Order: sequence, then structure tokens, then C-alpha cells
Amino acid sequence: MTESQTAAGTFFHGFADTFDTFYDGKRSPIMQWIDRRFRSDMFIRYELTFSRLGDLSGRRGIDIGCGSGPYVAEALRRQAAHVVALDPAPRMLDLTRQRVEKLALLDRLTTVEGFFPQAAPPGPFDFAIVMGVMDYVEHPVPFLRALRQIITGTAAVSFPSHHWLRGPLRKVRYRMRNCPLYFYDEAKLRAIGAEAGFGIVDIVKIPGAGMDYHVCLKP
Ligand SMILES: C[S@@+](CC[C@H](N)C(=O)[O-])C[C@H]1O[C@@H](n2cnc3c(N)ncnc32)[C@H](O)[C@@H]1O
Repeated sequence: MTESQTAAGTFFHGFADTFDTFYDGKRSPIMQWIDRRFRSDMFIRYELTFSRLGDLSGRRGIDIGCGSGPYVAEALRRQAAHVVALDPAPRMLDLTRQRVEKLALLDRLTTVEGFFPQAAPPGPFDFAIVMGVMDYVEHPVPFLRALRQIITGTAAVSFPSHHWLRGPLRKVRYRMRNCPLYFYDEAKLRAIGAEAGFGIVDIVKIPGAGMDYHVCLKP
């Protein structure tokens, strides 16, 4: 485990219950307004992921850095045959299991505690979801190369962009939490996607708050 992985894992284990409130309208109306205004990327990337992945029925997927499991639950609601939910933070995995238990679909879920790529389960998977994770990954090429080895269809992956104001502010906030962040631009995304062995690197820049790229990687 690298130093930056340990920091991200520890931070997200402690932050899991707060993070979970971002979804499902669990926060106060004021906080929801702030989230819609300043964290709109989180909600847009959710919509984009399912519209770009298309029909999931009968397909097997993996959610890497699943957090509290909103994407896992939605993929199962959309009739995915099975989803592997991988995250280093045990509390995130508890919350994922709770979400899926409410849907009575636990038989279609496997949870894996660990960091990708070290804890990569054997594939193949028809689809992958990697949302809000590359922000914390120091070495993206080995990560994406390992993803390429287990995926036969589309991997939907978000990457944070450089933003003249929000990037540095976010970096300071996360440095105070001892959790380093990594940023990308389009040229870098194309280069690392190709280096990792993906034939198609389809990039959408999320408008508005404008922090994220939503990227579909295909063999
Ligand atoms: C910002 S949260 C996003 C959670 C979820 N994907 C979402 O969008 O709601 C980032 C998650 O990535 C996990 N994570 C960080 N580095 C990781 C790695 N190398 N492998 C797998 N998960 C990782 C963290 O523990 C955390 O739960």
C-alpha cells in the first residue's frame, strides 16, 4: 500500500457517513442547495454514467471506489446480473451492503475491501464504474492498465480537471486532511488511456462547476 493510498483509505473510512448524506436528499435544505451549486459534478456524473453505460440488464460489473454504494444500487436496480463493489474503507462497504439489502438484492453483490489495482478481482466484467476515485490515485497508468485487463465493455471513469480557483482550494483542504489530490487535462487523459491499452478514450467535460471529466474507456 502506498502512502497516498493509506491517507485516502483512512480519510474515507472516517468520512463515510457524512459522504453518504450527499445522496438521496439526506442533508438539510441549505446543504442540499450548496451541494447542487458547488458539487453539481457529483450529480451530473451520476446521470452521465448510466446514460453512457446504456442497458445493464444481465451484465456483470465492478464499481471501483464504490463509496457508500449509490452506483452499485442503481446498477442493480437496472437489472445488472452481479456487481463487485470494491473500496478500501470498511465503513463505505457497510453502507453499500445496507443500500443493497434495502433492495433485497444482496445475492447479486460481492464486496471486496482493498485498493485497486492491488486488490483487483479476476474479471472479466462487462462494465466498470470508477467515480470520484482518480482524484486520489498517484499512479494512474498502472491503475488503468489493471482495469483494461478485467474489462470487456465500457469503463466509465471520472477525472478531476485543473480549475484556476477550485483546484488549489480543494488541494489545500485535502492536504490538511493529509490526502493528496491529482488533476488532469484532456491531453493527459488521452495519453494515459492509450498507454494503459484502451483503444477508445471518449471524453466529456462536465459543464457548470466544471471540475470533472467524464470519460468512457473501451478496449
Ligand atoms: C469521493 S469517494 C466516491 C465514492 C463513489 N464512487 C461515489 O461517487 O459516490 C472516493 C472513494 O474511492 C475510494 N478509493 C480511494 N482510492 C482508491 C483505490 N486506489 N482503490 C479503490 N478505491 C479507492 C475511497 O475509499 C472512497 O470511498
